[in-house]
Amino acid sequence: MANGDGTAVVNSWNEWDTLREVVVGSADGACYEPTEPGNRPQVRDRPDEPFPTGPKPPEVIAKANEELDRLAEVLESRGIVVRRPAPYDFSQPLRTPHFGVENQYCAVCPRDVMITVGNEIIEATMSRRARYFEYEPYRHLVYEYWESDPRISWTVAPKPTMASAMYREEFWTWPLEERHRRMHQSEFCVTQDEVVFDAADMNRFGRDIVVQESMTTNRAGIRWLKRHLEPRGFRVHPVHFPLDYFPSHIDCTFVPLRTGLILTNPDRPLREDEVALFTENDWKLVEAPEPVLSNSEMPTHCQSSKWLSMNVLSISPTTVICEEQEAPLHDLLTDMGFEVLTVPFRNVFEFGGSLHCATWDIRRDGTAEDLFPRAKYTPLTAGSSR
Ligand code: ARG
Repeated sequence: MANGDGTAVVNSWNEWDTLREVVVGSADGACYEPTEPGNRPQVRDRPDEPFPTGPKPPEVIAKANEELDRLAEVLESRGIVVRRPAPYDFSQPLRTPHFGVENQYCAVCPRDVMITVGNEIIEATMSRRARYFEYEPYRHLVYEYWESDPRISWTVAPKPTMASAMYREEFWTWPLEERHRRMHQSEFCVTQDEVVFDAADMNRFGRDIVVQESMTTNRAGIRWLKRHLEPRGFRVHPVHFPLDYFPSHIDCTFVPLRTGLILTNPDRPLREDEVALFTENDWKLVEAPEPVLSNSEMPTHCQSSKWLSMNVLSISPTTVICEEQEAPLHDLLTDMGFEVLTVPFRNVFEFGGSLHCATWDIRRDGTAEDLFPRAKYTPLTAGSSR
């Protein structure tokens, strides 16, 4: 395992230790997400209306930036170093040997593409064409960290082709029954032929990484993560939430808050046979309260669910930042002994996420702890070929 003495410039082993340096996304240059085989964006409650394309209106961008800047200020007021993405022209179309797409997306959600695993930065493969180059706005930071501390490693996961054959377009039209059946086989809009994962499908728990099989992470992606991380001393545990028919990114579903405590989504329980890993290792699962906004009250162009309510950012084992209007969640967290800081963030929702999505932690206190001492784990790299 990496030296893990907690002093490296890039050092983050879990989602809750005291935060020292973080990247906060920016809405500058953001575009509407294009329709493509891995994504069918819809206007909320008006699914037949064409989804807009190209740059988002300046006032929509300005409102999101105001909230992102406010988050940055709150973090700075707590002594946390805040870094931001470099400008990038997302309105550029892409043409690769395998696909074309009319515009790219945005740099609001660094969580989706970048992950710190101990002293290593991993750039995810990504799963959607419009997000193929989304690592670029963060590269100046990656270079800076990598140049400044020889203990840091930097890995770029293999880029998939994102050619049509990588996707299963029928996924979008499966009738509910079929969806239910396929869901249990974990078959979504990406096939298993190439390595595919988004960084936001992972939760970090010290030497254990929990990863969700989803529309944005396939089994080949999880195999790649196991083969990459097991020799570095990590255990990678796949998890499933069979009632989420469109799973993408774990941070509105399963949110660790401190050692021994995970906030869960009552609409999306963890698959029954996977609960024991947590309960047998003394982790308590606590259901999040009903969000204040219902799904139909979410912003018109927002593709996420009301459960953005639970997409909180922990800045220490005792302090959590929540969206300002989610009072029932504030109360639950306060009752459990947390200090709750709040910021307005609803104008960021249509850019793909809330507080956890819009950040990427670079440095937190702490080292590689074993928080699952009773886990029964057979490493993939110990022999078998699958
Ligand atoms: N698919 C999630 C939901 O609607 C949203 C996930 C957002 N997370 C992120 N890292 N962008 O519940």
